[in-house]
Amino acid sequence: MSDPMREPRYGRPKRRRLRAVGDHIEAERNALLSVHAPRMEWAQFWPKFEWKQSQHVALIGPNGSGKTTMQIAILPKRTYVAVLATKPSDETLEDLIENHGYDKYAEWLDVDPDKSPRRIIWPNAKKLGAKEEQADIFHKVLERIFIDGRWCVAIDEGYYFARRLKLSDDMMDYWTQARSSKISFVVGTQRPAWVPLEIYDESTHLFIWRLNERAALQRVSDLGAANADVAKMAIANLEEHQCLYINKRTGFMCRTRAPLSRKTPPPNSSDSTPGKKDK
Ligand SMILES: Nc1ncnc2c1ncn2[C@@H]1O[C@H](COP(=O)(O)OP(=O)(O)O)[C@@H](O)[C@H]1O
Ligand SMILES: [Mg+2]
Repeated sequence: MSDPMREPRYGRPKRRRLRAVGDHIEAERNALLSVHAPRMEWAQFWPKFEWKQSQHVALIGPNGSGKTTMQIAILPKRTYVAVLATKPSDETLEDLIENHGYDKYAEWLDVDPDKSPRRIIWPNAKKLGAKEEQADIFHKVLERIFIDGRWCVAIDEGYYFARRLKLSDDMMDYWTQARSSKISFVVGTQRPAWVPLEIYDESTHLFIWRLNERAALQRVSDLGAANADVAKMAIANLEEHQCLYINKRTGFMCRTRAPLSRKTPPPNSSDSTPGKKDK
């Protein structure tokens, strides 16, 4: 016997119709993304990633998303690289020193850039009061590189630099003025709200992982990129470790992932040498 109080059974087709609409939206979204921000394997992306000496790079994403892996993967595009290391120990950086030709320095030393083109400046952060000392050393490094020009300066934890070491003024100078000295500034950060907004405005190349922060998503759509809506949609739908790459100069966008092995092509031979005048 049928119960008059039971829900009528025509609830089901309705649900199917709703799902059909959902599928439709998803299909449309995927179609849009595959045109404006296609997926690219690393090997496909690498030659399309036209990063010139003097252009800045920003890597923005939550902890564990893949920023450090990506940062290390792109550095071979540059010839003269100074990585500023803040953690007391860091396996990724140890690996760069042991297997990838990086030299380790506790502070900046006057060594011929061609004799030591890849450096990790790694002040001792293990002792008490290390932050003041770190900040002091990094400030001097940044000052010196600013004068010499031509280096690519990479910072893995923008937040720590800006807020804990209180070097956000130096960072702003790098973003807004270093380009004319052919310096490339590469900064990774997990919470974009914690670093100066210049990171968005002044970086030519953006790598963004899935973000849920409304303010950060809004920032991305305010960038003036032609496809801001697509960018926002792409970021909200990224998969694990996948990021959206945006070239703000050309408008080129794609979705890619950092390679896990560190076999990378040789650097750009066209980079001009730090501390030397153009002819
Ligand atoms: N493209 C990728 N595919 C698979 N795993 C990845 C990828 N990129 C990063 N990972 C892994 O995710 C973890 C976090 O990566 P990491 O680069 O340290 O992230 P973050 O610097 O954003 O915290 C590491 O174990 C790393 O090996
Ligand atoms: Mg990291």
